[in-house]
This record gives sequence, structure tokens and C-alpha cells, in this order.
Amino acid sequence: MNYTIPITKVEQSKIDALDFDNIPLGTTFTDHMFICDYENGAWVNPRIIPMGMIPTHPAAMALHYGQAIFEGMKAYKDTQGEPMLFRPEQNAKRLNTSADRMGMPNFPEDLFVEGLKELVSLEHNWIPPQQGSALYLRPFMYADEPFIGMRAATSYKFIIMASPAGPFFSKRIKLWAEKQFIRAAHGGTGEAKAAGNYAAAIRPTELAKAKGYDQVLWLDAHEHKYIQEVGTMNIFFKINGEFITPELDGSVLHGITRASVIDLLRSMGYKVTEQKITLDQIREASNKGTLEEAFGTGTAVGIAYIQEIGLEGETIHVSDESPVGLKVNDTLNAIKTGQIEDTFGWMLKTRKELA
Ligand code: COI
Repeated sequence: MNYTIPITKVEQSKIDALDFDNIPLGTTFTDHMFICDYENGAWVNPRIIPMGMIPTHPAAMALHYGQAIFEGMKAYKDTQGEPMLFRPEQNAKRLNTSADRMGMPNFPEDLFVEGLKELVSLEHNWIPPQQGSALYLRPFMYADEPFIGMRAATSYKFIIMASPAGPFFSKRIKLWAEKQFIRAAHGGTGEAKAAGNYAAAIRPTELAKAKGYDQVLWLDAHEHKYIQEVGTMNIFFKINGEFITPELDGSVLHGITRASVIDLLRSMGYKVTEQKITLDQIREASNKGTLEEAFGTGTAVGIAYIQEIGLEGETIHVSDESPVGLKVNDTLNAIKTGQIEDTFGWMLKTRKELA
């Protein structure tokens, strides 16, 4: 479908205030945002407007019953300075999977991609050129109908905002294997990118950080035995030359970086198996010296190299080096910035300027 997306531009850009070499994490936003309303059963009035406050009724249902979902993705510049998006159609699909689980309306996938392209074209000067930096894009949807009562809302907003981002982790990370709190149980919302999943993770993450860890390693809800995922990432282990990653069992987020890393590793000749993985299995491999690498994958973090996993009274040493992880990271970055050919067909070019 062809959409008309009217644009109201800011009078004065804020870009001059940004130091691209020192981008503060998650606090800088570009000049504009894409917004669309859901009313009377249809998405209407897609538009780009100056970034700013949105009037919200105190009874907006998202605030009370948590109908709120989001996506995370990044825009890069290729070697000619043209803006590029990484697999945006996958984010559009995943948003709608989340929407289905949370009783929210689907958002048209072509409008999702079109809105992103228009916003990124307009904001292309905000894409940091530095290696490891990018323009983080945050599409999200929430229920804005003012109503007290338990049912699906009838009005929603879909918004895309953009925030320039530097590298997430600059060091190898330590994970805390969490046995008291859980992230997701079968039949729950673990597969959805629902705001509430992250809300429930905040306290356990703070406790893990207070112990000196960077993120939580989530275990299954029933036995606290099987590895699911990490705070903001999926996870891969290299044991005896082969890679394993937790299978998508309904409680694990379908990471787009995860899927891309599986394809990349296989194209590099590695065997990758999606399977159940126990913490015991990782401990045993570490003790035997066959645990060669582990890394997390996610949009915000990219690839995060894991040094150790802590649990009550014990540390599982993973590794001090991640040669394959590094290679995967470099290759992914080279694809995303057009430095090597995108043989997977992952990148979508956008325009630099609008009429
Ligand atoms: C992302 O990696 O884009 C995420 O959505 C994780 C976020 C909580 C930082």
C-alpha cells in the first residue's frame, strides 16, 4: 500500500548539542518521531512530528494493565554515507507476534517499514559514523484508551523514536544465574517483547548488579535448571568447536540478532544446534576445559562477550577470549555498514533526504 506520511519539522535542530564521540546511553533523542493512532478498529493519521511529550490520560490502559510492547533496531551508514536498516521487516513481524499475545491490534508491516524509512531519512545526520555506534530505533505500541476495567483497549498509539547510541558494553561481562526470580514460564509472555517482561526483570537485575554482575542469566521457571536467555540478549556457547543456543521453547525471545548469528556461524562452517541447555552442562564443560566461548546477542548490545557466570557460592569460568565471537561481531558490523557484501539480503537502504 502507498502511504502519505506528512512531516512537521522542528524549527531548530538539537543536533549541534550532541558529542558523537561521547553519546550518553539512552538519553538523547533526535528531533522527530513517527506516530500513528488506532481508532475505531483502524490505524489512522500516520505522521512525523517534532519529538516531544504526548498528552496521556491518567486512566490510559497501558499504565494500569500493561498493554505495551516494543521493538529495538538500529540504522547504520554505508560506505557512501547512505542510511541502512538491518532486517526491519523482521521487527515488524515480531511486533505483531507480541501484539497478538497481548491482545493488541496488529500494525501494518509495510507501514512499519515505511515509517522507519521516512524517519531515518529525515534524521540521517543523527546516525553516528563511529564504529560500534548507530542510531537506535525504538518502535512501540501502547493502549491509550482511558478506561478502568479489564479488557483489550480500543485505542492505541504506535510511535517510533530514534536515539543515537554508542557501544553498550566495552568489556567482557559477568552474568548472574538467577535461581530465585524467573523471567518467563510456559504459557506466559516470555516470547513477546512486552514492557512488563522488562519490568519484572528490573529488581533481579539491580540485585545482580549489586553483587558485581552485569546482567541476569535467566533459568526456566520450573526447575531453575535450563538456560533461557540473558537480561537484554540471547546467548550462545561454544563447546568443543560447536555452538549451542537455547531452543525457542515459547519462553525465549525470538532475537533477530540471534537468528542472524546462527546464519552467520553456519556460513562460517560451524555447527549450531538450538537445544535445551542446562547450567550443569555449562559447568561440566568449563571444568573439562571444553567451554571455549560464550556470548550474548541483541540489538542494543550487538555481541557481548561473556567472561563468567556466577551463582550462589560458585563461579563458572567461561573464557577470557572470544575469537569466533569477535569474528561474528566484525562480520555483522561490516555487513551493516556496507563494508562487505550483504549476501544474506539483510540490509534495506533508505534515502538520505526527503523532498
Ligand atoms: C534491544 O536490544 O534492542 C532491547 O530491546 C533491549 C533493551 C531493553 C535495551
